[in-house]
Amino acid sequence: MTKNIVLKATGIVKELGEGAGKVTALKGVNFSLLSGELTLLMGPSGSGKTTLLSILGCIMRQTSGTLTVDEHCTTGLKPDELAKIRREHIGFVFQSYNLFPTLTAQENVQLPLDVQDCGRHEAQERAAETLERVGLAHKLKSFPRHLSGGEQQRVAIARALVSRPTLILADEPTAALDGKNGQAIMGLLSDIAASNDSAVLAVTHDPRTEPFADRIVRIEDGQIQSSKEKRKPNRSRKTNGRSKNGADPELQNAAIAEAELKKPRRRTRRRSR
Ligand SMILES: Nc1ncnc2c1ncn2[C@@H]1O[C@H](COP(=O)(O)OP(=O)(O)OP(=O)(O)O)[C@@H](O)[C@H]1O
Ligand SMILES: [Mg+2]
Repeated sequence: MTKNIVLKATGIVKELGEGAGKVTALKGVNFSLLSGELTLLMGPSGSGKTTLLSILGCIMRQTSGTLTVDEHCTTGLKPDELAKIRREHIGFVFQSYNLFPTLTAQENVQLPLDVQDCGRHEAQERAAETLERVGLAHKLKSFPRHLSGGEQQRVAIARALVSRPTLILADEPTAALDGKNGQAIMGLLSDIAASNDSAVLAVTHDPRTEPFADRIVRIEDGQIQSSKEKRKPNRSRKTNGRSKNGADPELQNAAIAEAELKKPRRRTRRRSR
């Protein structure tokens, strides 16, 4: 599977607060996400993880620097244009699930489709299919209060997935879960990245999530300290350890990352949907 650059951020600076309380939360961050990969963003409290995620998700604007999502440069876009990028290209998952308590699992997952040009019947079918994908085919009509924490997070992941985004951003998706459920959620995010050919970025503090990562990016005091590719031997079931052209996918990824660093303005082929 060829990996494409889904998101590219260059020289991102973010100032927050005013006057004496002003802080530079991000100090020139360069960051990319590749399709098919689960990237973990790790770092101490206050290092800028949520701020970076909010900017990458077009929720917050950077003070300076450029951001390209799915080949759309976000510089100078109006709020409604940014909202369109969010809606069409990005799915969000939060620590606290953020489900509507009075809606069933299926209705919660349908919500993003209700604001799109998608008929009611199709929206219901797509929500049901997506819940099936996250292992909740038997809970379509359940309300959040009747679901476990892990199941609620699965519903939230299904809601993020239902619009078929190329980018999924998750802020501490396992923080409210016990170890076993947390591992299951990370396994699911890893599978989604691989099988949907999407880029998934998860902010996490939990070292137990590291084995699921394709790449681990560490941030400290608003600056990226390292970005390391990880070997995941059990992912070979997707590619039999080799890509179509016979190359080692791990080496291909490293080559892409290297080429990207050398050619910051390089355009990538957009995957067909
Ligand atoms: N609205 C704000 N006004 C001023 N400073 C802020 C604001 N929001 C965040 N900050 C500061 O920006 C820095 C980065 O915050 P951020 O929330 O991104 O950290 P984080 O890495 O997500 O931390 P945590 O792991 O605790 O969630 C911190 O020093 C924080 O105090
Ligand atoms: Mg945070």
